[in-house]
Amino acid sequence: METAHNSASTSSVNPVIPAARDRLIVALDLPAIQSVRQFLPRLEGQCRWFKVGLELFIAAGPSVVSELVASGFSVFLDLKLHDIPNTVAGAVKSASACGASMLTLHASGGPQMMQAALEAAATLPNAPKLLAVTVLTSMNAQQLHATGVMQQPAEQVELLARMGLAAGMRGFVCSAQETARLRDIAGADVTLVIPGIRPAGVALDDQKRVATPADALRNGANFLVVGRPIVQAENPAMAAASILTEMEAALA
Ligand code: C5P
Repeated sequence: METAHNSASTSSVNPVIPAARDRLIVALDLPAIQSVRQFLPRLEGQCRWFKVGLELFIAAGPSVVSELVASGFSVFLDLKLHDIPNTVAGAVKSASACGASMLTLHASGGPQMMQAALEAAATLPNAPKLLAVTVLTSMNAQQLHATGVMQQPAEQVELLARMGLAAGMRGFVCSAQETARLRDIAGADVTLVIPGIRPAGVALDDQKRVATPADALRNGANFLVVGRPIVQAENPAMAAASILTEMEAALA
């Protein structure tokens, strides 16, 4: 597998400062480990964080995470756990073995579920940081109302984040539109991971609460998650470099 270090010197695009690179997570929404092995060289060493989500994890299993970690990359394992507390606690223990740095669960699973997950993580030597997903970035008010939640997405994000904070969570996933508010509520040391990132002029796909990379960082994001705008780009290295350059400018 391509490693985090072995292709930087052959890059055809300008290098970028580590600050941006350490905050961009590329969502490997791919169907098999072979697709990952084919895709990584196309990034020309631009990225060092990858998200493994349900599609890839279900197809390839925990070894895909171990393989990425062994290649020097950091992995965000986006399993969005949501079950009874005992089952989620067990899943946190099982998922921790593969070396991921961050792992998601749904805040809507409730305070007891989040506490059980945190307690399970506390018993492990190298547990990933647990992140509570608030309201999916693909949900707008209409989609949320259809599930019986009559609040606006921003109100529901705040409710779930406050519940997560009270349960002891120190990391959240929300859209860029709620990031500034969550940063105010949660403080500087809480990790905010933001999907639904779309550079200006790029297709929204199924995402609804979107923002540009620069806006998400200015609002207080720690990490940006970008999938299709990089993975499905004709030239993924160029797409990543362009996003990193925008991030670099916003961070400066
Ligand atoms: O392709 P795109 O950039 O839309 O991918 C976004 C990624 O972030 C997907 O893998 C999706 O599962 C994930 N995600 C999200 N919204 C959340 C949490 C995770 O889009 N609230």
